[in-house]
Amino acid sequence: MGVRYSWPVAQRPNDRVALEILRSLGVPPNVLRHSAAVAAVAFHLASRLRETGLAVDPAITRLGALLHDLDKASGGGPDSHGQNAGQILQALGHPDLARIAQRHPLQAWTSDPPQSWEEKIVHYADKVVEEDRVVGLKGRLEGLRQRYPGHAEEIGAAEPHLRRLEEEIARALNLSPDQLTAELLAWPLDLALAQDLAPAYHAQGGKEK
Ligand SMILES: [Fe+2]
Repeated sequence: MGVRYSWPVAQRPNDRVALEILRSLGVPPNVLRHSAAVAAVAFHLASRLRETGLAVDPAITRLGALLHDLDKASGGGPDSHGQNAGQILQALGHPDLARIAQRHPLQAWTSDPPQSWEEKIVHYADKVVEEDRVVGLKGRLEGLRQRYPGHAEEIGAAEPHLRRLEEEIARALNLSPDQLTAELLAWPLDLALAQDLAPAYHAQGGKEK
């Protein structure tokens, strides 16, 4: 609680590679900000889980979160979202990051659910962050239902899986799901990552949509 992370770009070669990938694909800045917020939450959760002795890599988790929506610029529909990102990351030689991206959309629960801690954490972090704000699982699902009314059935089908995932993460941290949500809502989300990346992104030709 209360820990603020700051990752100067010069000390994060992996994040610089991620930035180059996002820029080369034309990912818009709003997606970059969302991804940076998810990355901050995912890194926080992965670090906490690792402290309990679980085998989870916070750096891979953060990088996977940063890249989980990288196909948002390529115009694919929601049905192929995740699959497209996975294919791009696989082609770039990052199979572990590809699986994180592939297994983050809601529809993954019926086809290819998250398995590793890194995949589960990014999936969950993405479902508690609306745009670049932490809103909790309930708030995020409400946001998705409003934005995608045609996908209400799919969202409803994923909800029990998401509740179980939240329980699994909370239990590993010795918290109840409500305590985990309260902690995340109170957590001072540090967007240093987005703030670090955005100027470099624009300087390298990233365009506001
Ligand atoms: Fe996504």
